Parts: sequence; structure tokens; C-alpha cells
Amino acid sequence: MVDYDDRLHRVYAAGRALEPSSLTVWMQTFAAEVPAKRPLTVLDLGSGIGRFTPALADTFGGPVYGVEPSARMREIATTTASHPNVTYLDGSAEAIPLPDASCDAALMFLSFHHFPDKARGLRELVRVLRPGGVVLLRSQFSDRMPELHWYRYFPSARTVDAEMYLPFEEVRTLAAEAGLVPAAEPQWIQAETPGTLRASYERVKHRAYSTFEHLPTDELESGFTAFEEAAAADPDRELPPIPAALLVLRRP
Ligand SMILES: C[S@@+](CC[C@H](N)C(=O)[O-])C[C@H]1O[C@@H](n2cnc3c(N)ncnc32)[C@H](O)[C@@H]1O
Repeated sequence: MVDYDDRLHRVYAAGRALEPSSLTVWMQTFAAEVPAKRPLTVLDLGSGIGRFTPALADTFGGPVYGVEPSARMREIATTTASHPNVTYLDGSAEAIPLPDASCDAALMFLSFHHFPDKARGLRELVRVLRPGGVVLLRSQFSDRMPELHWYRYFPSARTVDAEMYLPFEEVRTLAAEAGLVPAAEPQWIQAETPGTLRASYERVKHRAYSTFEHLPTDELESGFTAFEEAAAADPDRELPPIPAALLVLRRP
């Protein structure tokens, strides 16, 4: 398990900043899936430092509830991502602090793989969603992993990442057992671009990905040295974009 109260909260904003254009693509993608009425009540489950919550409120009218177990991540969200229609709540997927049938949509953006009890989290989502509600699950799947360009500098990173995620069909089965109807396939969304090799190094060096919490110190040191050298040698090389998987789950 990764503790966001330990180190990750300090580097998350620097290492995982989202361009406004990326946020726009994500909001358009979500808008195409959620119920058409406005306003919508949205749950951002595992909302972190609030990268998405204000945009969700602007796009769907609010209220938006950012539920997050890490006190430090929530603290940053409260100070840097406040919005009149957003409320940040202490809670977790396994005990969502919201009433039954109170939400129209729920976003889990790279939070699902952290849930210790995923089946219970999915049952909680069914409880808080209204009939016709939608879950937007942005995740990775161990059998459909993207080929991140920086894996080459850290020999165990790809395996570590794959071990953090479930295979796609296992997620679909868990969702169906909880009472959700999963799409047959994930959508592949092109929202974020890595930019140049130098820009990528400057972002990744913050170690704001939980992958790095699981790598041995010597691999981190040699990997970041090699990455820095490659970025210095070829700073303006544009990296290929990598699509992100989004699985939509519907509550009947
Ligand atoms: C990779 S961060 C993503 C944060 C945010 N969704 C974003 O995209 O910026 C994962 C978040 O999931 C949270 N998390 C961990 N365990 C959780 C749980 N059981 N229920 C809800 N959130 C959890 C972590 O504290 C962390 O803030």
C-alpha cells in the first residue's frame, strides 16, 4: 500500500500537474457518458489534491464531493482547489460518507488500484449512485499496460506497475458482481501529452508516481541519472502520446 500522507502529497502537484487542455479533454469525455440533466451531483472518489474537482463542478454544475482518505492530500485540495460547489470529505471507497442514491456520477481517477477492498468500494458506489448513475473508472489494467517511455531507465518499473493493477476482465467481473454494468472495452483517451524528453524528465523526477515507492534505492539513483543524461543529450525530442484507459460502469 502507498501512503500519500508520507511523501507523495509534497510532490504530487509538481509531478502530476494537468494542462488546462488535458482537463478540457477529460471533461468532454466525461460529459459524453454521464446523464444529460444539469446540475449533476458528482463524487470524486480518491480526489487527492483536487486536480479534477473544480472542473467537475464547473462542467456539471455541482455539488461535487471529493472523498479522500489522506489528510495531507485533502489539506492541499482545500487550500489550492477550493470551489463554492466543491466539498472535500474525509473518507474512503470502503466507507463513502454520502447518503444512499445521492450522486449522478462518480469519478475514480487512478485511485481504484489503491483500494484495499475493491469489491466493497464498488458496492459502496452502487449504494451512493442514483439509478442511471455512471462510474468513470480511469485506471490501468495489468494485461493492457501502456509502454511508458521512462520504463527503459528503471528495469523493474513495468513489472511493479503491472502488479499494482488487476487484469481488465477481473475488474469487469468485480463491477458486475457489485451490481454495475461495465462497458465491454475500455475507451482509450488521448488527453495528456508527455511533451519533450526534457519536460518529461522535469516532471517525472519528482517521483510523484506510486511506482517509485516500490523501487530499490540503487535502481532509483541509476535510473534518474540515466534519464537526466538522456534528457540533457536530446532535450527537445518530442515523446509519442500515450492513450489513457477509461472504463465506464453504469448503475441500472
Ligand atoms: C494517484 S492518486 C489520484 C488522485 C486524484 N484522483 C488525481 O487524479 O489527482 C490516488 C489517490 O487515491 C487515494 N486513495 C487511497 N486509498 C483509497 C481508498 N481506499 N479510497 C479512496 N481513495 C483512496 C490516495 O490517498 C490518493 O489521493
